Amino acid sequence: MSQPEYRVSENLSEAYTLPAWLYRDPEVLEVEKREIFAKTWQYVGHTSQFKKPGDYLTADVVDRPIIVMYGHDGEIRAFYNVCSHRAAKLVEGEGNKSILTCPYHAWTYRLDGSLHRAPNMNGAENFNPDDFCLKKVKLEIFESFIFVNLDENAQSMRTLFPNLFEHVRKYNLENLKRVRVKETICRSNWKVGIDNYLECDHCSIVHKSLVSKLDMKQYEMKIYENYSYQGTPLKGVSGDFSLGQGGRYYWLYPNTWFSFDPGPANLSIHQSIPIDYHTTKYVYTTFFMTDQLTKEEEELMAIDELVRKEDLEICEVVQKGIESGAYTQGRFSLTENCVHHFQLRIQKDLASIFPKLPVDSPSI
Ligand code: FES
Ligand SMILES: [Fe+2]
Repeated sequence: MSQPEYRVSENLSEAYTLPAWLYRDPEVLEVEKREIFAKTWQYVGHTSQFKKPGDYLTADVVDRPIIVMYGHDGEIRAFYNVCSHRAAKLVEGEGNKSILTCPYHAWTYRLDGSLHRAPNMNGAENFNPDDFCLKKVKLEIFESFIFVNLDENAQSMRTLFPNLFEHVRKYNLENLKRVRVKETICRSNWKVGIDNYLECDHCSIVHKSLVSKLDMKQYEMKIYENYSYQGTPLKGVSGDFSLGQGGRYYWLYPNTWFSFDPGPANLSIHQSIPIDYHTTKYVYTTFFMTDQLTKEEEELMAIDELVRKEDLEICEVVQKGIESGAYTQGRFSLTENCVHHFQLRIQKDLASIFPKLPVDSPSI
């Protein structure tokens, strides 16, 4: 992997943006999957999707098939969706099953992942069913949101994201109703989307209709070790504004955003999932406090769609610029501090291919 000249700095006022080659090299993405995505918490669902034993959903997490299941004991567990016999995929989609039956040779598994029956194994010596349970994946329920982490030694979300949602905690997030999931493809590197989300310098230019309602003079940005917060109230609102009276946007390293938009009480979870080095899938899950969508809620979803479209279009433009060969590194404005924070984390986690260098001594 080539490492052309680059400059980095922990000091925002003299820092350069990440070099272009990190956004256009398929090998970089492979390292990111291994060093970042396979070691961080990834959103897979909400507790409202699990009402009775046997309810399950499946997901692909860093290209691995995962199943999340609700056991008879009321516990939600995650496993690799891979049979212990000869590695077939056990189930697809989501639904309810009292037992999992492998579609290849019909080994069956209980809801807690233990092997129930292995019909073709009669006569096999030293075969202990306990050695062939489904392989567990670390799972955490965080404020009713279900996350998994492929790293079995990962720190808990409570440790990594202390006081997350401090502004919205009093709103009983477990009562949120999951009303819609939407996916979009964007032709840009996944980091372009994160860079874009983590600053609002572009808002008054790219999102004119959204910004016309918000009081941008009160715009606030806070950086924590593993997450950052941006927020501002609607015009005419000040102080500790309530849910819906402004925008509150939480980003969790590396690729999950919790967006509470102005309007009727709502939440939208955004995940960016890299498909290849210049293609990213966005999954948006929208929640409201009511089951039946009101007119206001429909309108909010339409505004959200517009804002997302505006963001995706500009990200595709940026990716083309990055791939043009005309761009190496840019500089940060002082209000791009959250982007800088993200890029420093990238630099730390990609240290094997992107070693730290002093600002005045570029590598060759
Ligand atoms: S691979 Fe599942 S039963 Fe054979
Ligand atoms: Fe934007």
